[in-house]
Amino acid sequence: MKRAEVKVPAEEIEIQKDFIRKIKELNEGSLLKYSISTFGCQMNEHDSEKLAGMLNDMGYVETDKTGESDIIIYNTCCVRENAELKVYGHLGALKKLKESRPGLIIAVCGCMMQQQDVVLHIRKKYRHVDLIFGTHNLYKFPELVFNTINSGKAVIDVWSSTGSIAEDMPVERKDGIKAWVTVMYGCNNFCSYCIVPYVRGRERSRREKDIVNEVRMLGQQGYKEITLLGQNVNSYGLDLEESKSFADLLYSLEKVEGIERIRFMTSHPKDLSQDLIYAIRDCKKVCEHLHLPIQSGSTRILSEMNRKYSREQYLELVGRVKDNIPGISLTTDIIVGFPGESETDFDETIDIMERVRFDTAYTFLYSKRTGTPAAKNPDQVPEEIKKHRFDRLIAVQNKISREINDLLVGSVEEVLVEGLSKNSTTMYTGRTRSNKIVNFRGSSELPGKLVKVRIDASQTWSLEGTVI
Ligand code: 5AD
Ligand code: SF4
Repeated sequence: MKRAEVKVPAEEIEIQKDFIRKIKELNEGSLLKYSISTFGCQMNEHDSEKLAGMLNDMGYVETDKTGESDIIIYNTCCVRENAELKVYGHLGALKKLKESRPGLIIAVCGCMMQQQDVVLHIRKKYRHVDLIFGTHNLYKFPELVFNTINSGKAVIDVWSSTGSIAEDMPVERKDGIKAWVTVMYGCNNFCSYCIVPYVRGRERSRREKDIVNEVRMLGQQGYKEITLLGQNVNSYGLDLEESKSFADLLYSLEKVEGIERIRFMTSHPKDLSQDLIYAIRDCKKVCEHLHLPIQSGSTRILSEMNRKYSREQYLELVGRVKDNIPGISLTTDIIVGFPGESETDFDETIDIMERVRFDTAYTFLYSKRTGTPAAKNPDQVPEEIKKHRFDRLIAVQNKISREINDLLVGSVEEVLVEGLSKNSTTMYTGRTRSNKIVNFRGSSELPGKLVKVRIDASQTWSLEGTVI
């Protein structure tokens, strides 16, 4: 179904900017601080950059010390139960702080809040939370903060879905080198284990013009790398009036000056077109890296997961990708212990990992999500079995990752230098086009530059080298 316009009207954005100005006036003369804790995926990280952009314009400054903050925000994730439990832990710990500082604003937002039972639970058990909002009205954050300050009462505003897109709101990006750019929101796939389609709504693509303008601006500001974000970027444009595919978008972005590297995630195997494979091959700036979640190596489980491809189809696709794009790095997501997963199913997952040889695999224990079809399946796998399989899988993958990295020793890689590596004053860090971390000795003029690094040593998760 095509749609004409899903943008939040410009007047509405102006109203929010007015609220930003009003709050800035209220804050005049006092040094107020904020902290944001983000859970979950890059999409959430990017949403937090938007919240930070709005807060900076309201006159707040960022601190990493929660105890010093005047606004504390938890941007939550609900993909797995663990992430939810962590948020509850944090909220519980804030009760005392709120009692000692009644003016403090505690806000929770993000995917967890799109579930009614979660909001009810927070209202009941964590009465010190001042502001609750969801993923669909993030752009209304200034108004919600204003109402919280003025009413002195808890403000709750969660929308079930809008299908709209807010453009032109402030964004505060963390570094000046790499930037995330959302190309589409939502997901239509309804994989049977996944809560995302219920909390992020249906797929809606940003217009190509808006994306290109944003990337142009990033190029002018000195950004070197962009990562295009969407739950399923391969279906980008299907909902747009203008007929644009994701491959078309890559060709357009390839022309933007200043940007040297283009990455994207996530790709659903069922929608990865031959045109996209050619685009990755032919666009110089598009990096040779594909994140292609497989989830399971068993066709039976894939069908139960509603993934719409078989193990053979996945293998055929990977074969085609590797044949067309020499040296491509492949990464994946795998769920261990999906309901009904037998030892034979799991062996098929191990087998496909050994066949494909992913550079990295992000492995997850299946987590039951209320409201999804898989949660109702009576055939849940016991925790000890899940954990045992998980450990087996990680051992296999670590060995493969290490072997792939070992092969790079002696080669020369192009690295985009990001900055000093953690806890060091002399070692710098950056990534290869294939997205591998490389650490090397360097100097302060390197960040933001593309340099050639000879790889001297390898580990499972990173490489070491020398700038040449
Ligand atoms: N349990 C475990 N992992 C999940 N994922 C999504 N839903 C669940 C769940 N219920 C994983 C998938 C997806 C990644 C982002 O999170 O592997 O690709
Ligand atoms: Fe979840 Fe599947 Fe959509 Fe990914 S494609 S967000 S796993 S429903």
